[in-house]
Amino acid sequence: MIDLKTQYAGLSLRNPIIVGSSGLTSSPDRNKEYEKAGAGAIVLKSLFEEQIEMQSSVLMKDEDYPEAADYVREYVKANQVNNYLEIIKKTKAACTIPVIASINCYKSDVWIDFARQIQLAGADALELNVFYMDTDLTHDFDATRAMYVDIIRKVKETVSIPVIMKIGKFFSNTPALVHILKVNGADGVVLFNRFYRPDIDINTMQLVSGNVFSSHSDLGDTLRWTAIVSGKIPGISISSSTGVHDWEDVIKCLLAGADAVQMCSAIYTHGAEIISQVLTCMEEWMLQAKYNSLKQFQGRLNYANISNPGMYERSQFMKYFSNRD
Ligand SMILES: Cc1cc2nc3c(=O)[nH]c(=O)nc-3n(C[C@H](O)[C@H](O)[C@H](O)COP(=O)(O)O)c2cc1C
Repeated sequence: MIDLKTQYAGLSLRNPIIVGSSGLTSSPDRNKEYEKAGAGAIVLKSLFEEQIEMQSSVLMKDEDYPEAADYVREYVKANQVNNYLEIIKKTKAACTIPVIASINCYKSDVWIDFARQIQLAGADALELNVFYMDTDLTHDFDATRAMYVDIIRKVKETVSIPVIMKIGKFFSNTPALVHILKVNGADGVVLFNRFYRPDIDINTMQLVSGNVFSSHSDLGDTLRWTAIVSGKIPGISISSSTGVHDWEDVIKCLLAGADAVQMCSAIYTHGAEIISQVLTCMEEWMLQAKYNSLKQFQGRLNYANISNPGMYERSQFMKYFSNRD
């Protein structure tokens, strides 16, 4: 009997496949389909503070009716937040697997307010989708790290459900960031979010959207940092995200030390059925390799468990290019 159970950020999952936060998970009915297809957990689409603010400013400009602007803003915000809380409640009512809510804000008092309401609505855990795009030439790097720490500390003081930080890969020292997040209470990290990418259309001379979905080639960074963080920071839960497209990718992430993986682009492309296909193939692989639980191989190839961990730190192609014409 193959056991795919895993522990992730204090949650017990029947298997490590988590449906990643996106439009995929904004409907309770669809979330039920992911559960039926075998998902271990679901991360709901993020509640974006910025989006709420944009919507209220479209409806009402300060100069129109200054005395009414605040009222409309608060009304729009309450309405959007209530809709989100309804999705949590309905998904919880429809599903038995853990439901992880997700928020993206840029003011720490708002993070706290949303987090409190989300816990009351019944979410099993909270993912904080954090990203600051800073292009200021005089920016102090330590200030960015301090912002992340401030957010995790304040949210952890506010809620008792597990809190997971979803970060991007553009840090010079990801393990140092994860370490300080763990010290300040993070129950887990998602490595990594994949953000909107710009592209340029050379015919229309316009800035356009790049490919929204990831590909297999994105998995390398995910594996590298999963392995290094898992090897250097025992005890932090990791869910690998970005570039996980098939069952082999899932096995690779687990070998690198992930407790769970998140799939998004693959589900957009192939539908919920991909989840059951991945689970079936994982079981077959485990059977052949004579494993009957994930624990028997999770982290086996992380930074701490291989004889040449420097391979994970290798960044230049020197040898490759010197041997290639
Ligand atoms: C259309 C789309 C919408 C997304 N929306 C969110 C979101 O609301 N919150 C979030 O944290 N990540 C969001 N993401 C990022 C995904 O959760 C995931 O981190 C990213 O796509 C990388 O995983 P993948 O390689 O499996 O696609 C979105 C991704 C896509 C493609």
